[in-house]
Amino acid sequence: MTLPLLEDLPDPSGKKVLLRADFNVPITNGHIDDDLRITSALPTIEWLQGRGARVTACSHLGRPKGQPDPKYSMDPVRERLAKLAPGVELLDNLRFSPGEEANDPAFVDQLVDGFDLYVNDAFGASHRAHASVVGPPARLPSAAGRLLAREVEVLHGLVERPHRPFVAILGGSKVSSKMGVIEALIDKVDHMAIGGAMCFTFMMAQGYSVGDSLVEPDWVEACRGFLDGPTMDKFLIPTDIVAMGPGEEVQVFRGDIPAGWKGLDIGPETTLAFIAPLEHAGTILWNGPMGLFEDHRFQEGTVDVAEAVADSHGFTVVGGGDSAAAVAKFGLDLRIDHVSTGGGASLELLEKGDLPGLAALREASNAPR
Ligand code: 3PG
Repeated sequence: MTLPLLEDLPDPSGKKVLLRADFNVPITNGHIDDDLRITSALPTIEWLQGRGARVTACSHLGRPKGQPDPKYSMDPVRERLAKLAPGVELLDNLRFSPGEEANDPAFVDQLVDGFDLYVNDAFGASHRAHASVVGPPARLPSAAGRLLAREVEVLHGLVERPHRPFVAILGGSKVSSKMGVIEALIDKVDHMAIGGAMCFTFMMAQGYSVGDSLVEPDWVEACRGFLDGPTMDKFLIPTDIVAMGPGEEVQVFRGDIPAGWKGLDIGPETTLAFIAPLEHAGTILWNGPMGLFEDHRFQEGTVDVAEAVADSHGFTVVGGGDSAAAVAKFGLDLRIDHVSTGGGASLELLEKGDLPGLAALREASNAPR
């Protein structure tokens, strides 16, 4: 995919640059819990400032409903940015204006007013056809920032030319949100391990009872289709589960989970089965935790998988907010080749091969043809 890069911009010296970043970071009581999305934008900011550009950043934060809401104030981000990248201005939360999500052309005009160039480094928001993502490239010479370009290169490379064996480990709670990516990847991978609460819909499709575990009954048939189809041998579905029952008792069950018990992590036998193909994997994609890792009683599956991914000699990619948070929590992030800053965006790119924000950049007047 040929995106206009920073080098495709007209000389930025003395120019005003509007930088769309994804500074939608987790904040608790006014404190930023993880600033990966801010630090990841620094190479682009440094490139622009190093060439004499004046940079104004803009981002959304959370999901305010098209009007100012102090809960989603950019102040904590502004403070952090001032320390990390002095001289960069930051606009108000884009979603304080209804025109952002509505992709209102009048809001785009207002946004780009006074700017000479536009750079999109907001990979995590590039699956949203919102004003600040898709509007400016039709009005200003535009480019993908370093982070956006790297994310696209890595995620495209995964599906187009993976080193084999290619192993995907998928987790998280909702199987419905992962169906598209399972479908897009199953022909490309050698093994696909399914953990997290989404495994219970697969286990139900295999005929097991899953007790009080989270399931999406409407998706049982689709899961059965995968397990009965020609790709059935690629799937690794849990054979044992750590569950919590009456009085918060915790127990491991093989196969059926009794009524009154809720599965909250993969069991030790499953963990070994998931880890085995990782040892010789050429490429690993991990998206979504294996269990409720925020609770130490249900973190083992996620910890063991995270360590095996970190130990791998293959090319390792961790995508999605929760699994990225898990590797950071266990101090393993520096041992992963690429931790994606995009949750929904990384899934959509893997699934569809393109994003609205990328398509808009390719249409910019300065884009390579
Ligand atoms: C994210 O956190 O995945 C991005 O910042 C997009 O946020 P959104 O899902 O609220 O559009």
